[in-house]
Order: sequence, then structure tokens, then C-alpha cells
Amino acid sequence: MRYRRMPIEVESPEELGYDTITNNLSESSVADRKLSDLGLDLDLDELVLCYGDHLGDPVLRQAVATGHAGIEPDHVIVTPGAAAALFCVATSLLDRGDHAIVVRTNYATNLETPRTIGADLDVVDLAYDQAWKLDLDEVADKIRPGTTRLISVTCPHNPTGTMLGHDDLKRLVGLAERAEAVLLVDETYRDLTHTGERIPLAATLSPNVVSVSSMSKAYGLPGIRIGWAVTTDPEMHETLLAAKEQVVICGSTIDEHIAGRVLSERKRILPPIVADVRERLDLVDAWLAGQDTFEWIRPSGGVVGLVRFREEVEVDEQRFHHELLATHGTYVGPGHWFEVSDRSFRLGFGWPTHAELAAGLDALLLAAADARR
Ligand SMILES: Cc1ncc(COP(=O)(O)O)c(C=O)c1O
Repeated sequence: MRYRRMPIEVESPEELGYDTITNNLSESSVADRKLSDLGLDLDLDELVLCYGDHLGDPVLRQAVATGHAGIEPDHVIVTPGAAAALFCVATSLLDRGDHAIVVRTNYATNLETPRTIGADLDVVDLAYDQAWKLDLDEVADKIRPGTTRLISVTCPHNPTGTMLGHDDLKRLVGLAERAEAVLLVDETYRDLTHTGERIPLAATLSPNVVSVSSMSKAYGLPGIRIGWAVTTDPEMHETLLAAKEQVVICGSTIDEHIAGRVLSERKRILPPIVADVRERLDLVDAWLAGQDTFEWIRPSGGVVGLVRFREEVEVDEQRFHHELLATHGTYVGPGHWFEVSDRSFRLGFGWPTHAELAAGLDALLLAAADARR
């Protein structure tokens, strides 16, 4: 494989330098946490820093499995972030020329790894005019029974924040089963949903499914690099473990210990985070309703949405992004991170302080005025 760095990583705020941005609306998680924020009273001094269980810390795997029908801790493989889980899934399933169907827009890795492998990639584009709803008929049409190896979707979705309904998910599972393909569901935002409907962990529905998630987004802990893949298929499970062992053998003892404690106490830790995210979502939605330059489809999950200039707004989008940061200290995720025009951008509403979020929204209109044609 010949790797190339993706724009979303090269231009990420941490690579740019957090100190160069005042209002950081480019992040895709809630605010990053310190250990002392978590109220865990951890005693890391006594932790033995051994090679750990290759599947991952049993306490953490138990916490991941709890509450999901038919999922046992041994169905879980802990990985260094969801990113590594996605990489292991793609490289385990795909060789050069293998057929894969992947949704776009998407978290960039979900497109980039199959591409780097040289897979025969069929992209299903989401459309604003269909409220970013995945067109399942198009997915069905693109399937080549017995040939398609991977169908890859993300729910809740990054960067649009839309979700699959339960029936849609079941239909996708059926499509994958009939095609003898694997359905990868990137569920990294699973714990952050804003509608009543809570769809099941996709891997509970069929051995043809791999669910992926992590501690990064809902818990604000991307620095402990803990994610996981879940599958009930023994062969897939064994292959994913082999992939993990070839890269890292096992995970970080410290990271897994912290994640295990956090996830075991999610009933205490998660609700205030979700309540705060929903408050922010309402704030951004109300702001969007009160102006006529930008539009979005209100996200149903996660902490990001894909905002775009209204069609009639004539603007130099490169100048907009330049002015936004250089003059107004505000950063968003430009469309090219997601293979769409820079007239769209990902707005992350979970990470900045409330004051920075409000200032960032004001800055969007100021930079749009600077860049009008
Ligand atoms: C949908 C999605 N999947 C996976 C990841 C990777 O996250 P991590 O490796 O930090 O768990 C991200 C990060 O932005 C994401 O948005």
C-alpha cells in the first residue's frame, strides 16, 4: 500500500496549532477532557504495564458489550481508536480490485483506506436535497452478489449528523447477507443521539456486520486512543485480531484501564455531556434559522453538521475560509476534507466553549460578507 496524507489530517487543528485558532468549530468531538474531569479517582501508579490481553482489557470489553443482545465481551476487539478498527476491517476484507461500496461524504478514512488498497470502489453520494438520507435503492443497485466484499456506512454520520432509521439498517443488513458481503457500520457517534429512536448496535443484527466505535467523540477522550470493533462472526473476529496483532500486538494498558473505568461509569458521565450537546445543537439551529446566508439539515446525532452557502449567495469560498481564520480567528472543516465543494463546511458545535461557539457563528457571517462577489 502507498499511503498519502489526507487533507483532513494535514489541515487538522492540532497540526495547524491550537494556539492559531480562537474559535475552533472544526472539531468532531465534545471538548477534550482531563483525567481530573472524570471523577474516577484513578490510581495509575499501581497499574502493571504488561502486554495486555490481545483482545483488550476484559473490563473494557465487558463495558462495551453490556446492554447489547447477543454480544459477549469476546466479540469485542479493542483497537487504538476507531481509526485503527476501520483500517483493520478494510485491510482484512479487501485486496486490490475487490468491490466495495462506501458512502460519501464520510469520515475520510472510510474512503481513503479502500482506495489505498486499490479496491474497486463504488461511491454512494449523499444529497442535501434528500436531507442527506442514504439512498438504499442505489446501494442495492450497486451490489454485485458474490463479488461485493464490503458495504460501508456511518451512523450517526460524519459530517452531516444524519442517522439511519432502524428499518433502513435492517434493510442494509439484509442486502449484505444476501450478497455475502460484510456491512461495516461506523458507529463512532453512537452515544450521542438527539432523537428518541435508538437503533441497535448493528453487530447484534447479523454475523455479516462489524460495528466500530470509540471513546473519542462522545467522551472527549481522543488522546487515550481507544476504539473497538464488534462482530459475532468467528472468522472475521479472528482475522481482525490477527490484523491488530500484526500492528500493535495489544493495546496500551493505561489507555484501556481508563476507558474501562469511564465506560463502566457511563450512566454518570454521559448524560450531562449529551444534555450540553443538545443545548448547543438548538443554539446553532436557531442561529441558522435567523439568517439567510447558510443552510443545513439539522443533525440527528453527533456533534457536527454540514453547513453550506445558500445557492443564491455569490461568494469566493476560498476567500471566505481564508478570512474566517486569518481575520476572524475561526476554523471550520472545509468541504474538500470530505470530497465536496468548499461552499460547504463541517461545523463542529460540541468542542468550543459556548462563548467561542457564539463568536464563531458571528464570524461565519462576517467572513461571508468579506468574501461576497
Ligand atoms: C465517523 C468517525 N469514525 C472514526 C473516527 C476516528 O476516531 P478515533 O480513531 O479517534 O476513534 C472519526 C474521527 O473523526 C469519525 O468521525
